Amino acid sequence: MVEDCKKQSQHQSKSGCISLRSCVTFTAFLVLFLCYYIVPNEFSASWALTVGLFLPEKFTSQAINFSLKRVSAISAESWKTLEPYYVAYPYKYNFVLNEPDKCQKENSFIVLIVPVAPGNTAARDVIRLTWGSQRLVGDKTVSTLFMLGLPTSEERETIQRDLLQESAKYRDLIQSDFWDSYKNLTIKTMVMLEWLTGYCQYASYAMKVDSDVFLNVENLVNMLLSAPKHNYMSGLVVRKALVQRDPQSKWYIPKDVYDQPLYPPYALGLGYVFSLDLPVKLVKTAQLIKVVYLEDVFLGLCMTHLGIALTDPPDGNLFSVFPVEYNRCRYSKLIATTTQSLRDQVEFWKDLQRPGPYC
Ligand SMILES: *[C@@H]1O[C@H](CO)[C@@H](O)[C@H](O)[C@H]1NC(C)=O
Ligand SMILES: *[C@@H]1O[C@H](CO)[C@@H](O)[C@H](O)[C@H]1NC(C)=O
Repeated sequence: MVEDCKKQSQHQSKSGCISLRSCVTFTAFLVLFLCYYIVPNEFSASWALTVGLFLPEKFTSQAINFSLKRVSAISAESWKTLEPYYVAYPYKYNFVLNEPDKCQKENSFIVLIVPVAPGNTAARDVIRLTWGSQRLVGDKTVSTLFMLGLPTSEERETIQRDLLQESAKYRDLIQSDFWDSYKNLTIKTMVMLEWLTGYCQYASYAMKVDSDVFLNVENLVNMLLSAPKHNYMSGLVVRKALVQRDPQSKWYIPKDVYDQPLYPPYALGLGYVFSLDLPVKLVKTAQLIKVVYLEDVFLGLCMTHLGIALTDPPDGNLFSVFPVEYNRCRYSKLIATTTQSLRDQVEFWKDLQRPGPYC
């Protein structure tokens, strides 16, 4: 979800911004009003109407009737084109590989979870050798885990067999029984949140980190020492991102999946950190609203529904979605940046470890 950030600054004139902002504020207020003052009843999740908008109980069956009509009005032909954008969630997935005691045993302050493709052993190995090897910052314990779905490629049996060995060796894999694919990343994120809810309640924070990200663990922990302990989510927060309507875009969303022109605020998927009271709330909310395959956007929708604002990091340079050119001084000050290759990750990390002044 990078294009958004660029496009929105080009597209929005100042006055457009203001009227748009008041419009968005008004809508947000209206949604919050409806959510708070009219008890949101948990009617069947898949038929939830517009994201975040819930109707009072007595209108519920009408609402279901209405959306049933809307759904059945979609022809088989257009259903086929929309189908890839529907996400098989909520659904009760099962863990194939699990580390149920890890958080408790390690008494983790923060759990770093890296979603990664089952076959991407190389990325896991690089993370284990670099920032994932850092277990302690001051007296705070850091745990690192990888989150996987089921391999879908031709060699899936070989991959799965290798995963069992890898898991026995490192004890850092969590695998769930959904198919691992780009369009299923929201499932991965939700399963991660379910896992945190079930097995990691007493850690203080968790962070989802993409596998191509360079993480400065020390700076992350130091930022968290003075961060809120509840209702906290931070990272590279994007506001008023334009919904991509070009079917060629990697982030294309059809109107039938999400019909607003702008997304609510959300933290970009490269790396977002949150307090551990949030997973249970996000999982509950995700049962109520229409699921979007862009996992970071979807969490933004859940946060908006919960009425919890995202927190900007204390410094605008801490997170970068574009690979920051290596410079020891600069890297000693950031928290997360994407990188261009696994080799870069290793090189940058090695250089940052060597003694001597950073700047
Ligand atoms: C929903 O639709 C059914 C059949 O079309 C109808 O019998 C029922 O009264 C409707 N319910 C509401 C609340 O409109
Ligand atoms: C996502 O996972 C579900 C559950 O395993 C599967 O039915 C579906 O086909 C997957 N979708 C994609 C696009 O891989």
